Amino acid sequence: MAVTMAEIVVSVNGVDRTLRCEPQTTLAEALRGALELTGTKIACNRGACSACTVWLDGEPVCACMLLLADVGERSVTTIEGLADGNNLQPIQRAFIDYDAIQCGFCTPGLVMSCAALLKDTPHPTTEQIRTAIGGHLCRCGTYPHVIEATLAAAGGVAE
Ligand code: FES
Ligand code: FES
Repeated sequence: MAVTMAEIVVSVNGVDRTLRCEPQTTLAEALRGALELTGTKIACNRGACSACTVWLDGEPVCACMLLLADVGERSVTTIEGLADGNNLQPIQRAFIDYDAIQCGFCTPGLVMSCAALLKDTPHPTTEQIRTAIGGHLCRCGTYPHVIEATLAAAGGVAE
């Protein structure tokens, strides 16, 4: 049976991209495949681990749970779009400085969620950070370092 291909325009990291894809293509698949933005990871591919977290209009979402065709006019930001050229965001620098990375598979998704939190809540409490990363699974157990890094990127220690 012939597969119907659709032409879809999507704004990714500030640039409109035109893709031909099958209707069931997810945003995560399109990012990693046609767009070659492999910073976004696919682990569970069913909304259970948050490895695939990107921003949709500035809000963190699981890219494996969203069809590319449903993105519409909303803008997508991936981990590749977070830094300003070679200038890392404070949260990216803090992940390095506070050793919040082991195998790194969960890291882009965690960075996107922590960056979104800091964007909306510049001085989060530890509890707010825990809530922001609540859906993320890290098999390497970096959570304490992720919290330390986020507090450091916020410029202070909170309770
Ligand atoms: S890969 Fe999307 S939530 Fe796990
Ligand atoms: S650093 Fe390995 S899964 Fe999180």
